[in-house]
Order: sequence, then C-alpha cells, then structure tokens
Amino acid sequence: MKILAIETSCDETSVAVIEDGRRILANVIDSQISIHRKFGGVVPEIASRRHIEKIDEVLQEALRDSGLGLEELDAVAVTQGPGLVGALLVGVNYGKALAYGLKKPLIGVNHIDGHIAANYLAFDWLEPPFMALIVSGGHSHIVEVLDYGIYRLIGQTRDDAIGEAFDKVARTLGYGYPGGPFIDAASQKGDAEAIHFPRTYLEKDSYDFSFSGIKSAVLNYLNQLQMKGLEVVKEDVAASFQEAVVEVVVNKIIKATRVCGHDTLVVAGGVASNTRLREALTSEGEKNGLRVLFPDLSLCTDNGAMIGAAAYYQFLKNDLADLTLNGIPNLQLRTVDNLR
Ligand code: KG4
Ligand code: ZN
Repeated sequence: MKILAIETSCDETSVAVIEDGRRILANVIDSQISIHRKFGGVVPEIASRRHIEKIDEVLQEALRDSGLGLEELDAVAVTQGPGLVGALLVGVNYGKALAYGLKKPLIGVNHIDGHIAANYLAFDWLEPPFMALIVSGGHSHIVEVLDYGIYRLIGQTRDDAIGEAFDKVARTLGYGYPGGPFIDAASQKGDAEAIHFPRTYLEKDSYDFSFSGIKSAVLNYLNQLQMKGLEVVKEDVAASFQEAVVEVVVNKIIKATRVCGHDTLVVAGGVASNTRLREALTSEGEKNGLRVLFPDLSLCTDNGAMIGAAAYYQFLKNDLADLTLNGIPNLQLRTVDNLR
C-alpha cells in the first residue's frame, strides 16, 4: 500500500511516499524558513505563494526518490488542518486534483495526527495504546492514544502554544526565527538557575498548560534590567526560561502517563527537538519506569512522511475524503469526547 502524502499547513512544502504506513520511500521537504526569517515569523500570503511555486518540483523529486511512477501509487493523502488557510488550500487542491486525475482514493489528515504518527515511522513496533505529548508551534496537548487516530484529551494549553512561547521569548532576546532552536543552543551556554521564572501549574491536578505568563515574566525581567542599566546575559535568560517551561511540561506529562496507566510515552511536534526537554523527559521517564520515545529530529518538524503514516491507518478504516475536502484552519483532534 503506497500512499503519496502532501503537507503544506505552514511553511514547509513537503511530499512523501509511505509504504504500509511505516516505511519511508521518499520524504522531500522544501523549507521556507529563510524566506520568512527577515519578517520575524511566517507571513501567510508569502507561504501560500511559495507552496504554489514549489509543490510540483517537490512532488517530482519525491517520485524520483521513491523510484515510483504516479500510476503505482494507491492513494493520495493531504493535511487538511489545522494550519494557515491559504497554505492548506494549496496542498488540499493539489491533492484533490491528483486523486481525481489518477482515480485514487483521497485521504484528509489532521496535522496533529501526523505529528503523533511520526512515531510509527520511527518505531516500527509501536502500537496504541500509549500516551502522547504534542509540543509544536501551534499546539501543546497531552493525549491518550487509545487507537490509531483516536484520542482522549487529557490537557492542553489555555493560551500560547509552547513553541510560540519559545519563539516570542527568542524574539524579545533578539534571536532569529524560528526562536526555539536559538533558545536551545543559547541555553547550553547559560545558567538555568540564574533567574527564577514562574512555574505555571494552574489548579491542582490540572493537566492544562499556560505559557503566556512566563513570556510576560521574561519581558518584565528584561525591562527592569534595562531601567537599571544592567547588562542582560542572554544565555542565562534563555536557559532559565527553558528550564521553567520544561519543568512544568515534564512534571505534568509524567504524572498524566502514570495516572492513565501507560508505560510508553511518545513526544511529537517541533519542540520535541529541544535538547533539555529530551534530557529531562528521558531521565524522569527512567526514574518512573516509563519508556519515552522521540522521533528523529527530521521527523519532529513538519514533513509529509508523518501525514502518510497517519493516512495509512485512516485508509484501513475506510476513513476517506471526497472532492468536497476543504482546508480547515482550526481543525480539532478527533477525541472520544467529540466523537460522541
Ligand atoms: O511542529 P512544528 O515544525 O510546526 C508546527 O506545527 O507548529 O513546530 C515548530 C515550532 C517552532 O515554534 C520552533 O521554534 C519550535 O518548534 N522548535 C523548537 C526547537 N526546534 C523547533 N523549540 C525548542 N527547541 C528546539 N530545539
Ligand atoms: Zn507541525
């Protein structure tokens, strides 16, 4: 079963070919980061235009890498949301046209489903149920993966996503875009205990997150230093911010995994590349007898392969789309609560 998968939800144009949901035959990614960097963030109109310019080329390269012709594919999958509407529409329309032209089934995939499914590519033995932490530029979720594509929502952010907090703090410190990798690198040279930023746990036993307070705390700290004419040690601010965020995330997800009775925890999304998060989760996981899995860095950020992996399990359930498929910017994860 060979699925051609398209991802254009934000600033990566990606096309992959996935065999039986687990094997990557091709995964071509054209990143627009260098284009958006000078604006300090993704400019939606520029992202859509670039997807249009690149998608044909990326598709051709993916076919070349896979050694397959279009007629050898069994289905076409595409990210239908969440994401930037203009960017989503490029992939959705391209996918619909391909599926129609080739007379192949069309599968609409939730981007977050894709991030979780990246773990099926990285760990070929992994099967639900397990616990998942999704930490990206747009999402911060704790979910129980009950079955392929079926979740129970345990917690989520009430304001900013974790990646957004990294990016905003990085911008305040004068680092480039996206900020997460800069904070990660700077932190390795800084003292994580130099400044005590607040840890936001919310109500007792809540598994929700809030990341907007810490962003303001960093801003206040920098303003105070500036008013007093004191020098800012950026590496210390980065490391102290990162430590505060990671501590809360690690404590909540480890507790949630234990309370829900799982022994395996998978981490997904761009922030899963963070060195300190990986370190802290691995060591806390060991202490608590949990297996903590992270996909390779290349599968953490947006890519078509993860969309193809998620699509395969939808195909097995005959969860297909028709040509009315549309981009849905705020598409929600399918949870047992909203299935009812
Ligand atoms: O999953 P992703 O590629 O796109 C979304 O679906 O949002 O995640 C991008 C986010 C950005 O906010 C970026 O700063 C963050 O992931 N990120 C990191 C690191 N690498 C990427 N955050 C912290 N540490 C990193 N090493
Ligand atoms: Zn993503």
